[in-house]
Amino acid sequence: MQRRALVAGNWKMNGSRDSNAHLIHDILLEVRKYPDVDVLVCPPAIYIESVGRQLDGSPVQLGGQNLSEQEKQGAYTGELHGSMLRDVGCSYVIVGHSERRAFYGETDAVVAAKFRAAQSCGLTPILCVGETLQERESGQTEAVLARQIKSVLDACGIAAFKQAVVAYEPVWAIGTGRTATPDQAQDAHAFIRGQLAGADARISNSLRILYGGSVKADNAESLFNCPDVDGGLIGGASLKSGEFMAICAAAQSRSK
Ligand code: PGA
Repeated sequence: MQRRALVAGNWKMNGSRDSNAHLIHDILLEVRKYPDVDVLVCPPAIYIESVGRQLDGSPVQLGGQNLSEQEKQGAYTGELHGSMLRDVGCSYVIVGHSERRAFYGETDAVVAAKFRAAQSCGLTPILCVGETLQERESGQTEAVLARQIKSVLDACGIAAFKQAVVAYEPVWAIGTGRTATPDQAQDAHAFIRGQLAGADARISNSLRILYGGSVKADNAESLFNCPDVDGGLIGGASLKSGEFMAICAAAQSRSK
């Protein structure tokens, strides 16, 4: 099955109004060369609206990096409700990034609640899963992925995956310059798809599964050519327009 490629830039806690404007300007010069790729940027929340204004009328989509798990707006100081992300033009939101799990204590249950909260506001969640180095070395990779996927499946049901994206991001590859090999990525992606196929093969087959972790211009093509890799979630390289556009080019050549 042909799944449309998605390349998502996760800017994390980086940027300024000035640097964002330059980055988006440069992306917009190139992005129409890649009509078979969905291109998404996820700026820090405070910049989403201004980046959105600059993107107006372009094919580049907007996403948040995080949202509250609360169902309703209210007295939750410092939090952002999914409806607010929608209100400023987001169509996607990252949930369960390993930095949120590790540094902000997000449990599988919280991640599942965020996934549900995103969908209830009409946002497409990008659910991040992935094992640490220690988990990989002790042979627990599949058990960890199965647990992370199952907690969302149990809480939200398989139908929720019709309008979702999964990102496989091995923690040891994030920001380290150490990328999973195409074989390691393909094995993990096929495993994730297999877990969901047990619940509904059609939904699992149409689900986009992105790879994330030190994707760069020079390794994107070999990763994106894996049959179960449908694009990338890009951190560091999404802050450099040349790198990011070259990654989009790799996704475009895959989908031909
Ligand atoms: P990286 O980050 O590309 O800088 O490794 C990926 C991510 O954390 O989404």
